[in-house]
Amino acid sequence: MSRILVTRQLPFEALDRLKAEHDVDVWEHAEPPAPEQLRERAASAHGLLTMLTETVDEELLDAAPELEAIANMAVGTDNIDLDAAAARGIAVGNTPGVLTDTTADLAFALLLAVARRLPEGAAEVRAGAWGPWQPAHGLGADVAGAAPGGVRRGRRRPAHGLGADVAGATLGIVGWGRIGQAMARRGEGFGMEIVHSSRSSGLELHELLERADFVPLHTPLTPQTRHLIDAPALARMKPTAFLINTARGGVVDPAALRDALMARRIAGGGLDVTDPEPLPAGDPLLDAPNLLVVPHIGSATVRTRERMAAMAADNLLAALAGRPMPHPVT
Ligand code: DGY
Repeated sequence: MSRILVTRQLPFEALDRLKAEHDVDVWEHAEPPAPEQLRERAASAHGLLTMLTETVDEELLDAAPELEAIANMAVGTDNIDLDAAAARGIAVGNTPGVLTDTTADLAFALLLAVARRLPEGAAEVRAGAWGPWQPAHGLGADVAGAAPGGVRRGRRRPAHGLGADVAGATLGIVGWGRIGQAMARRGEGFGMEIVHSSRSSGLELHELLERADFVPLHTPLTPQTRHLIDAPALARMKPTAFLINTARGGVVDPAALRDALMARRIAGGGLDVTDPEPLPAGDPLLDAPNLLVVPHIGSATVRTRERMAAMAADNLLAALAGRPMPHPVT
């Protein structure tokens, strides 16, 4: 019997499967453990089941000399020092595939919501400010909302409160992995023109940014992609274009994004991920009225979270039994 530390309550049967075979310690709080708490609780663990909120670095690995396996309940592994784990012979697994459609759905929901200005419309109704039907709906005088592809960089935006069309618009997908391609399928269904940019295929990033009406980010966070979308990148986007991020907050420079949104150098944004997370209530990004932020819920459906927990448990059970993980990080 091995000792496993699970860093959050798991309301799924995956936890029972772990408990049936091993001595399982479950972090009891809703807040993630602080680094020193994690080091203390992991000190005698053979297996770790971590969330994306836990930083698994050399310090933690040194504090857990018995560790044989780490199962991250996420597809992203930017919270784990993979080289340090490999150097210690620790197996690392993740949860690819099961959250692809769920995350692409959320990305597309953000795209539709910001294009058609759902947050402002809903707020207007709740504030009792629903006025009579207007040819140019008065949601705000200086907000961009133009026909897709119709406005070139630098041209003056129309002064009205209307939304932007999705059909016929260009969807410029950054990152061409599973989720990026799932986003493309959704865009095709909505009659969009699809272009993409990745390390190995598609357009150069600058070309994509200049052409796209909607720019969803689907690239992992690595040293190469940190602040990939910075001030110069945002400056290349059309003033009518929208940025969507369901990947990792660190892919976007938040100060540059705030400036671009506030100055209306881009039309708007939809974020499921931010840097930091959680985003504090007074964060400057939230000054931008043309920004919709939701709290990292890309994979948050019952079925997907159950599957992610099951995959993480499968990874740990296999590794602790001396078998290869079924979903290893490669
Ligand atoms: C992941 O799996 O990396 C997602 O961000 C979780 O929602």
